[in-house]
Amino acid sequence: MELHKTEVYTSRINRVLISEEEIREAIAKAGDLIDSWYDGRPMLLVSILKGSFVFLSDLCRAVKSPCEIGFMAAKSYYQDTKSSGIVNITMDLSQDISGYNVVIVEDIIDTGRTLRDVVELLKARGPLSLRVVTLLDKPDRRIVDLRPDHALFTIPDHFVIGYGLDYSEYYRNLPYIAEYKE
Ligand code: IMP
Ligand code: MG
Repeated sequence: MELHKTEVYTSRINRVLISEEEIREAIAKAGDLIDSWYDGRPMLLVSILKGSFVFLSDLCRAVKSPCEIGFMAAKSYYQDTKSSGIVNITMDLSQDISGYNVVIVEDIIDTGRTLRDVVELLKARGPLSLRVVTLLDKPDRRIVDLRPDHALFTIPDHFVIGYGLDYSEYYRNLPYIAEYKE
């Protein structure tokens, strides 16, 4: 498939599912919610790369309490648009999290496998608290019983792109979330 050809690239953007404006409003509310959890005490926002880098950059600016930022990378191997179930932590946090209120910032929870592995790993390190905020939740596809503390949007079982989410590493830079046309 030749996504590097502009006509092909744009023709795969099926329709906008969540607009920039809707994302902006939901992020402002999520920032307030996160602030209310910790009552001004510091927190560590942990972004799961690569998909959540756009979300984290907007979300952290909607939080008013003191916060640190950390990065982890998890790769779930995809055969086209279906998860293979193999999850690898390819980059770990650099800080000791035992004294932290940790918020995992995820782009999307699909089967739930990626997040289950990340949650288990971080829990074992004894943080003060551990919560999960996800931009998108696709509950229809859940295999692992895992519920986020907050999901900004719940979406049906469609493969989506944009605002950090990719198809074959493309489309992460779209400012909105769209359905991908296979
Ligand atoms: P899970 O382990 O099946 O929950 O998959 C989570 C990871 O798969 C996410 O962090 C995304 O990187 C990727 N993913 C799942 N669904 C989509 C989608 O609709 N679009 C783009 N990436 C997706
Ligand atoms: Mg991801």
